[in-house]
Amino acid sequence: KIIAVIYGGRSAEREVSLESGERVTQALINKGYKVEAIDLFGPGGRLNPVKQLSDAHFDFAFIALHGGEGEDGRVQAVLDMLQKPYTGSRPLASGFAMDKALTKKYWQGLGIPTPNYLCFSDKPDLEKIHREMSFPLIIKPSREGSTIGISKVHTQAELTKALEDAKKYDSDILVEEFVSGPEFTVTIIDDVAYAPIGLKPSSEHELYDYEAKYIAEDTQYLLPCGLSDDLELEVQALALEAYRSLNCSGWGRVDIMQGSDGCFTVLEVNTSPGMTSHSLVPMAANYAGIDYDSLVEMIAEQAWH
Ligand code: DAL
Ligand code: MG
Repeated sequence: KIIAVIYGGRSAEREVSLESGERVTQALINKGYKVEAIDLFGPGGRLNPVKQLSDAHFDFAFIALHGGEGEDGRVQAVLDMLQKPYTGSRPLASGFAMDKALTKKYWQGLGIPTPNYLCFSDKPDLEKIHREMSFPLIIKPSREGSTIGISKVHTQAELTKALEDAKKYDSDILVEEFVSGPEFTVTIIDDVAYAPIGLKPSSEHELYDYEAKYIAEDTQYLLPCGLSDDLELEVQALALEAYRSLNCSGWGRVDIMQGSDGCFTVLEVNTSPGMTSHSLVPMAANYAGIDYDSLVEMIAEQAWH
């Protein structure tokens, strides 16, 4: 069988996906698979992605795309129509999880804790923000990843600029209550929650942001995460609840914050997590004794099982 590794894409997370795709491809080759690597849209974004997928010869697909149509269910829907099985969540779950505003509204209804927020599709209502929220605030595009377009703001001037920045990435903008952290992330593979990783960006970073994620060498990854056994189980159970609530399948990663009151609150579910050298799913798997190549094979197997 031939496995297509679909990577690249044209979202703001293209660079991250190029690295995930390259590493996943190498891992599958190391495991003896025949691989067809498909750089979706290609450099410059000029190729027709539907034609690329329908022309390519493969039996199964490993989706190593992040953000945009690669993570929001559109690529998954094309693969469904081509009858090519693939890794990870189906189209509806993917689209839901990619949309933070929709996910949070849904979680509030279910009683799954998530930071308070306002969402603006048109012009942000500054008065409403001031009335209902207080600084510091987190401003983020609803449908993005890797912290792209996200700011933490303390003042009116910072707020105005952050809203403009976020608007470059999405029409829907979230204004979210700041939760002090620490931040934890839980990997889920085949419906099993792995050990939470504690994330501690160096003091120069106010957030676990793009640079802290992929560039900085001084971000601290805590494994074990530093919580008591009971709290670790609580975080894992919350992650599974959030993941299952969206009908996610295959694998994913759930990002969770702990507030200054000690309570946990869910930021989001990532349905196509990063697989780079700095990424968290490989770290959690490694801690469980699963090396990178075996992890990739484990995820790939979801496509044909
Ligand atoms: N969105 C990035 C790739 C992640 O969640 O790992
Ligand atoms: Mg994300």
